[in-house]
Amino acid sequence: MCGIIGYTGTDDSALDILLTGLNGLEYRGYDSAGVALANDSLDIYKREGEVSALEAAVPEAPGSVSAGIGHTRWSTHGPPSDENAHPHTDEDGRVAVVHNGIIENYQALRDELVARGHEFTSDTDTEVIPHLIEEQLEAGENRQTAFRQVVDRLEGSYAVAAVFEGSDVIYAARHESPLVIGLGDEGNYLASDVPAFIEYTDQVIYLEDGEFATLTPDEVVVRDEAGEIVEPSIEEIAWDPEDAGKSGYDHYMKKEIHEQPRAIRNCLRNRLAEFEDRVVLEELDDIERPARIHLVACGTSYHAALYGAQLLREHGIPTQSFLASEYRAESVAVDAETLVIGVTQSGETADTMRALREANGAEATTLAVTNTVGSSAARECDHVCYVRAGPEIGVAATKTFASQQVALAMVATALVDDPDPALVDALSELPDQIQQVLDESHARALADAYVDADAYFFVGREYTAPVALEGALKMKEITYKHAEGFAAGELKHGPLALVTADTPVFALLTEGSRLEKTLGNVKEIQARDAPVIAVTDVPAEVERYVDHVLEVPSSHPKLTPILANIQLQLASYWVANQLNRSIDKPRNLAKSVTVE
Ligand code: M6R
Repeated sequence: MCGIIGYTGTDDSALDILLTGLNGLEYRGYDSAGVALANDSLDIYKREGEVSALEAAVPEAPGSVSAGIGHTRWSTHGPPSDENAHPHTDEDGRVAVVHNGIIENYQALRDELVARGHEFTSDTDTEVIPHLIEEQLEAGENRQTAFRQVVDRLEGSYAVAAVFEGSDVIYAARHESPLVIGLGDEGNYLASDVPAFIEYTDQVIYLEDGEFATLTPDEVVVRDEAGEIVEPSIEEIAWDPEDAGKSGYDHYMKKEIHEQPRAIRNCLRNRLAEFEDRVVLEELDDIERPARIHLVACGTSYHAALYGAQLLREHGIPTQSFLASEYRAESVAVDAETLVIGVTQSGETADTMRALREANGAEATTLAVTNTVGSSAARECDHVCYVRAGPEIGVAATKTFASQQVALAMVATALVDDPDPALVDALSELPDQIQQVLDESHARALADAYVDADAYFFVGREYTAPVALEGALKMKEITYKHAEGFAAGELKHGPLALVTADTPVFALLTEGSRLEKTLGNVKEIQARDAPVIAVTDVPAEVERYVDHVLEVPSSHPKLTPILANIQLQLASYWVANQLNRSIDKPRNLAKSVTVE
């Protein structure tokens, strides 16, 4: 949620590097963007809209600029506009600041500043920071101390970076919002996430909460909360820059849907001992069988959590999934006997992180199931199981959902003494089966046929019920059409009132998920004239009851829903494509939601 980029180097290409970084971060927010170039004076350019609008506004030859900061925004305080775009400055334009997160005490700080005569030009919470820094400078503090003292006054969650006129130093701090430093040969980088600078360096330092960093072209100094210099660990990112590009696909989402065979192979690599019918997750070695498990997650990750919870319950471990935003340690039985699993692609989602922190506070054992190495979830949980999907740039989660499902199926298998050998075998076949779905799907033709529908419904049972919810979420977020997912049995308890000839229903009819019962619900739907599209591994059994079939290969009943979901991803993609939607950057959304 909002993207920060900074660069300070020995060459003069800061503007190009900042713009490249902003393009790589646009999935985090895309309602406005801006840069501050640190020359003798600070040159600020900012525009409402996507980064392309900013690119059109910056000078083609900005002169020699070797340092600067940039930002792409997802609005919280004030609507998208040139004025509210970051960077923000003090009244004299001596310091420029970009910020991600929410400053909870900003109103009090702003009132205080206004009372002392400061004039504000934006609605943002961020703007208090440069004004406060200005006061500290006027009080005689040096830049580093001024920055630090102001950050110390901020409450809430933030990642913040500042540059000053006539200087190539970048000052940065984080509290509950990610910041990563890239170490390059020609200079050093600062960003909310690695895709911003992966084409320049793969050597990174993840800042910890409470740390401050000072970046110059040839040095990075990290200090802890007490101001002591710390020796940060330098990690190597195992990505190819191409992983973060579109590789010839029209959209990141399409590319990421098609990357699923590879993502699942990566997720499974060295984790299946097929000859012994076991899953080997060394990450869980030290976890005792818990008395109970709580899964906490949001959005798509919550749907993966619902799926994982079913698998864990079947192994006899009492398991509940919670929307992370609704999880309160004081009102659920969470204690040292509880394993709390945070399912989060980004590892930074504020709601999920708060839930995990509460679980840590209650002395539960915590496990992060995440895609993001070095993320807050990975660092703050007792254990981490990476889903290894690779970078996901499209705001709509696709390959990470499949990878989370597979990772949770492995977690469920690894935590029990008597794993199901057929499941272990079936896991190893999944990547090829996903490829088969991708190669043979005719979801596009169906999407074309139903692009004018009033709404789309998705129904499933047991293992496919979470996939029905996910199918609907995907459809609504990228097509902006009404879509709902239901446990099939619930339809007759209310939602059936919405079903008409203009509301196609995707029915997940896979073996092992009480297909016969769902077929009964399909009849109820058809009696209301709605077209039914079956997603099924047993077409011969269902085709006479439905209007269309999207087929998937047969797998283990617990894994077929993963294959069925691929068809739903494709259907949503093609409806959105027909409607010419902004598929990778749907309106009002952002990839990483770092506010509660
Ligand atoms: O990074 P996380 O998995 O924690 O994100 C949680 C949700 O914001 C996310 O899954 C969201 O629902 C998807 N981008 C929707 O496609």
